[in-house]
Amino acid sequence: MTASATWTARDAAAVWHPFTQHANWIDDEPTVVDRAEGPWLIDVDGRRYLDGVSSLWTTTLGHCHPEVNAAVADQLARLDHSTFLGTTHTPGIELAEALIRLAPNGNGPALTKVFYAGDGSSAVEAAIKIAYQHSAQTGRARPKFVRLQHAYHGDTLGAVAVGGHDLFHATYRPLLLETIGVPSPGDRALGPDRLDIATRALEQTMAEHGDEVCAVIVEPMIQGAAGMYDYDAAFLAAARREADRHGALLIFDEVATGVGRTGAMWAADHAGVNPDLLTCGKGVTAGYLPLSAVLAAEHVYEAFLAREGDTAPRTFFHGHTYTANPLCCAAALAGLRVMEEQDVIARAARLGERLGKLLEPLGAHPHVREIRRLGTMTGVEVEPVRERTGFAVCQAARERGVWLRPLGDTVIVMPPLTLTEAETELLAAGLAEAVDQVLR
Ligand SMILES: Cc1ncc(COP(=O)(O)O)c(C=O)c1O
Repeated sequence: MTASATWTARDAAAVWHPFTQHANWIDDEPTVVDRAEGPWLIDVDGRRYLDGVSSLWTTTLGHCHPEVNAAVADQLARLDHSTFLGTTHTPGIELAEALIRLAPNGNGPALTKVFYAGDGSSAVEAAIKIAYQHSAQTGRARPKFVRLQHAYHGDTLGAVAVGGHDLFHATYRPLLLETIGVPSPGDRALGPDRLDIATRALEQTMAEHGDEVCAVIVEPMIQGAAGMYDYDAAFLAAARREADRHGALLIFDEVATGVGRTGAMWAADHAGVNPDLLTCGKGVTAGYLPLSAVLAAEHVYEAFLAREGDTAPRTFFHGHTYTANPLCCAAALAGLRVMEEQDVIARAARLGERLGKLLEPLGAHPHVREIRRLGTMTGVEVEPVRERTGFAVCQAARERGVWLRPLGDTVIVMPPLTLTEAETELLAAGLAEAVDQVLR
């Protein structure tokens, strides 16, 4: 029996995994990861796999990066944790300053304040509570949110409410906040006029319900978990215009797209549009530790400051035990420093182009429906020729030393931003061969 098989049996006896059907778990022979080096995952039997999805879209510089490791170790020797409720600490302050300095600089308000959270979902949760409370404290409580179909903003109930991914969300609809879904400008099923259809639907929705809407929330430029539905930047300008026209806030959820993934620091930078609230997570800590944040415009923050004559507190009564944990902040600061020193955003843009070029022949495969990509965020949609076709392709890639994870029948490719040419070629070749094997 291999070490992997032994550990998998122990795992199956004790663990319940996220987003996992356990009836298949042992038969699927999960990878039991033991260590990692750069873009490589190494399992308990010593097999090496190129981490083609950046460990669920997180690692930006590769695993166990020496400078990030050193920063976390140094922080650990100084301060492990102290609460951010009532006290503060230097890494939390410095990281907020860095995020504000790097924030998008487009049309819309400047983002000048940072509210920390833990995971992407909890950043979204904070953002939607801020938006609702902001409406109540600037005029009249507006209880509704406008969201896009096929959206994914996380799995806590607020985040599910503003999502539109039926497979993940339909079960929980009876539990949720009131939201209004509009068609997505990235939805291929709408045909080539999808941008116009989505824009008109947004305009109409806001004309009918705008005075009850506290915020419009979108994943800017590309809906990741939908299966990489990229869309035209003009939609973000329209969303900015409609939110302003009706006095609602605009929220960009950059949990997946932020920190270089799209070949720019933020997806917002492609459109030159600023939101009022921007959520980020995943790659913010270079993919090391759970920390996320909401970047807020000054006018939003100001609505939470106490004033003379107030009859109720304006405080944002929200936060978590480990908010702004110093180890997470130290990892994030080191990661952002390395990114700037090594011009990683420009490298990510070049990596995306190269990946696109290498995958071009695969786009002509008779059983590949479409390849969608923005920067390094890539989805290869294959024809469902059998049960779990996307998963079968990923298993075949794994046999070739490339680790991938599908979303339905779309195989996601989202490597660390610092991949070398040889590693990029291996990734593209492993995927192409896997598609060929499964969809011959
Ligand atoms: C756009 C977006 N928002 C939010 C989330 C949720 O983040 P987390 O899984 O860290 O809670 C995700 C996760 O994939 C995401 O893609």
